[in-house]
Amino acid sequence: MNNFEYYNPVKAVFGKGQISKLPDLIPSNSKVLLTFGGGSIKKNGVYDQVMTALKDYTIIEFGGIEPNPQYDTLMKATDLAKTENVDYILAVGGGSVVDGSKFISAAIHHDDDPWKILTERQVIKDTTPMGCILTLPATGSEMNSFSVVSRGKDKLGFGGDPRLYAKFAILDPEVTYSLPKHYLGNGITDAFVHVIEQYLTKNINTPIQDRFAEGILLTLIEEAPKVMSEDKNYEARANFMWAATQALSGLIGSGVVHDWATHMIGHEITANHGVDHGRTLAIVLPSLLRMQKIDKKERLLQYADRVWNINSGSEDEIIEAAIVKTETFFQSVGVPTTLSAYDIGESAIDNIVTSLRTHIPADLGENGNITADKVKQILTNAL
Ligand code: NZQ
Ligand code: ZN
Repeated sequence: MNNFEYYNPVKAVFGKGQISKLPDLIPSNSKVLLTFGGGSIKKNGVYDQVMTALKDYTIIEFGGIEPNPQYDTLMKATDLAKTENVDYILAVGGGSVVDGSKFISAAIHHDDDPWKILTERQVIKDTTPMGCILTLPATGSEMNSFSVVSRGKDKLGFGGDPRLYAKFAILDPEVTYSLPKHYLGNGITDAFVHVIEQYLTKNINTPIQDRFAEGILLTLIEEAPKVMSEDKNYEARANFMWAATQALSGLIGSGVVHDWATHMIGHEITANHGVDHGRTLAIVLPSLLRMQKIDKKERLLQYADRVWNINSGSEDEIIEAAIVKTETFFQSVGVPTTLSAYDIGESAIDNIVTSLRTHIPADLGENGNITADKVKQILTNAL
């Protein structure tokens, strides 16, 4: 096992009706910037629950944070937060609103151009405390210190600074009832691939992390059909929500070897073609696994056996069967596994690869051996 430091200060407040606990979580007399997205929280009753809970607080609202939160929008929120001198941020939404609010919380205090936090990895100066109410289980942003911000065709991540963790994350499975199937499928896929990128790498004797990871994968596989077909199955939504949070809270990633190539390639597909984050991963991952069959052989065999119960045939047959199972799983939650499903053809591939190399000049993957040519091949095989 590799050396690691594990620190997660986020207070998870899980279950039905927990939004009413807001006054216990946000210091009284706070002036709160309430950040949200395109309006789903006004249709599903979450906004009303928040306003009722915070009736004694001064609230400044900022709505309109878009999926793949845009820098320009976040800077408008930052300006508002500064003008109003807010001292707390409450993010209510999916990963985009939570990520965007992390950025706002740092941008408020940044003397230089905040975009340089992303492009030049400038160290943040300070943050305004932020709490969140998660409405879409997927990214794990509610319990990690990472954030992804977009500016036109640049989609860049930052994080790792402990001041970027939310102070609390309210996780009420009932708020997911209003999610369209499209976003449920995205969320299941994203959480699944988060686990895979920390698990299907190298065997360095990490049985605890492996079994946690396999537990999350098996839970997602078991709960997905119920989540997709039963609109108000509380237990299924609860298990899905906690699985997605734990997929990227840092626990299963401590001391293991990480990959993240699928995510890096996926971000370029989103930035250049507007495909939702989770959907890009379902395009890239199966093709990447086929490309990396030899590097990942030991782990793929373990994955095939312990997650899919596939253990007969040649090694190559076992691995291929596990990859097919993975593809079929994504398809079962309504998420396609090819570029052509989004009308993205061969002519688009060079541009995606060039854009990737501009953002990340290094070769990708746990062995740093996924070159630009290999990315091109991965995408071509995913047509
Ligand atoms: O904007 P509203 O109206 O709220 O609608 C949203 C949005 O259109 C809707 N939605 C959310 N909760 C809902 C709901 N609709 C009905 N009922 C609800 N309860 O869902 C749509 C998508 O929301 P979004 O927040 O964009 O989705 P997601 O949570 O998948 O977040 C994606 C963003 O997170 C980043 C992605 O790159 C992308 O920018 N990621 C962040 C990570 C992190 N911080 O660790 C890791 C991930 O790998 C990922 O990169
Ligand atoms: Zn992701």
